[in-house]
Amino acid sequence: MSLNKIDPTKTKAWKLLEDHFSEIKSDEIKTLINKRSSNDYHLTWNDFLVDISKNRINDRTLSLLFNLAEECGLKEAISKQFNGEVINQTENRAVLHTAIRTDGKEKIILDNNDLVPSIIQTRKKIQEFTDDVISKNVKGSTNKAFSDIVNIGIGGSDLGPVMVVEALKHYSSRLKTHFVSNVDGDHVLEVLKNLNPETTLFIIVSKTFTTQETISNATTIKKWLVTKLGKKSVSSHFAAVSTNQKEIKKFGINTDFVFPMNDWVGGRFSLWSSVGLSISLAVGYKNFEKLLVGANNMDIHFRSSSIEKNIPVVLSLISIWYNNFFKCETEGIIPYTQYLSRLPAYLQQAIMESNGKSVDRSGNKVDYQTGNIIWGDTGTNSQHAFFQLIHQGTKLIPCDFIGFKTPLFENNTQHNKLMSNFFAQTEALMMGKTRSSVQAELKKSGLSDKEISFLTPFKVFEGNKPTNTILVKQLTPESLGSLIAMYEHKIFVQGVIWNIFSYDQWGVELGKQLASKVLKEIDNNSIEKHDFSTNYLLNKYLSNT
Ligand code: F6P
Repeated sequence: MSLNKIDPTKTKAWKLLEDHFSEIKSDEIKTLINKRSSNDYHLTWNDFLVDISKNRINDRTLSLLFNLAEECGLKEAISKQFNGEVINQTENRAVLHTAIRTDGKEKIILDNNDLVPSIIQTRKKIQEFTDDVISKNVKGSTNKAFSDIVNIGIGGSDLGPVMVVEALKHYSSRLKTHFVSNVDGDHVLEVLKNLNPETTLFIIVSKTFTTQETISNATTIKKWLVTKLGKKSVSSHFAAVSTNQKEIKKFGINTDFVFPMNDWVGGRFSLWSSVGLSISLAVGYKNFEKLLVGANNMDIHFRSSSIEKNIPVVLSLISIWYNNFFKCETEGIIPYTQYLSRLPAYLQQAIMESNGKSVDRSGNKVDYQTGNIIWGDTGTNSQHAFFQLIHQGTKLIPCDFIGFKTPLFENNTQHNKLMSNFFAQTEALMMGKTRSSVQAELKKSGLSDKEISFLTPFKVFEGNKPTNTILVKQLTPESLGSLIAMYEHKIFVQGVIWNIFSYDQWGVELGKQLASKVLKEIDNNSIEKHDFSTNYLLNKYLSNT
């Protein structure tokens, strides 16, 4: 059974939200916050505290947003996803990335088959391979233990693993992990430059095994390896994660080193599957498993909590409030830990590839806004980069601030400094700085009245900038798993309410098709008829002038 096809703008809740928006749109958070009458503004769950009180909302906003979720059939949609209904209709697939982090206690039925035994079997294979490589049982073709791993993949076959490996660096195994994704030969050669072929294991990760970037990079690397160690080395130095068994075989990969993927797991939701092999090698299988446990815990919370206490649901609804009523175009993701430096890039794909759609589930063009533009960087670095615009620019940019109570190193004496910035920024964004306090401050610093009157407008902060604070006990494999799953579910909820299909990505196809056509023309040194600009550029490229 597919998802309902309900135009959110035709619901009763939407109309009421429009009226409510005109009443509340100019209200200031600093005033609203004093009238918070319920505990709904602090959501606590496991090691998570999600504070939503610094938002341009009140009790009525929340209750209307909850009604919207009800009217759009959210609860039913959640059951359909977890029960393996074919909710990815345009690709005729179920969406079951949640199944691969199952605790194995319940059967998960798809096409009359229980998926759990094969999921557990694949996990076992990942565990054995990880243990063998780390403990030097599996070695390269010259009988040397592996010291380096290179993940070759792009999009979902890269961004999840690269983000998690960076996030869990503190928990690293003895292996060094590298990633090549771009079809940029210079980058591939740069990575290879510092690697010893005898001690390097390459993992090709591609659901389709036809992606131009991944296959080109794998082919370049295979040539390099064969030149250094001979043809026979390929079967000892390459592993593959894919659904395309035929192409894997053609590449010459040892069947023992082949890990399956399933078509019911989308690329950008696949880090929990064999796609996470490089994660498992980078941090050890036990930590990989803890990541899955953390995600599974969030799945249980998402499936079983009421709408009002459901963290992914509440965050989605607030995001819809800004996107569709305040007409905010972007959302900032600001983690206050360097370990999460790749989280914004990972979420860019997860969110923008999923919800960057303009046709509803009935195939009609929508006349309301859908997917948000996601961007961000770590705090405090971002404070010294783009925070100026968030504080004093003309755009309203809701941000998620993600911080951790306890640092990972016991002798870290700077954590309070980091976290004081974390708390101060959300307070500053909300409170701003009034004209009178700017003037008083300038007076105290001894400036003349003329100087004060000139400088004041530039130093005023309007405030009223919304943020969510996500405060977690510590960055561990479990809490990271929960955090990622929280955002995955947020994506789904928004897609359900916007009445779009979140699990396809037809929008990336056109560019791919044109690139292969252009490549042929470049290789044949014969440019066909394009438009005025493209012809000019291609001819310039070929003539090297
Ligand atoms: O960018 C489009 C996309 O299809 C992503 O969804 C996917 O993660 C990526 O390409 C890589 O695809 P594959 O794993 O098949 O190489």
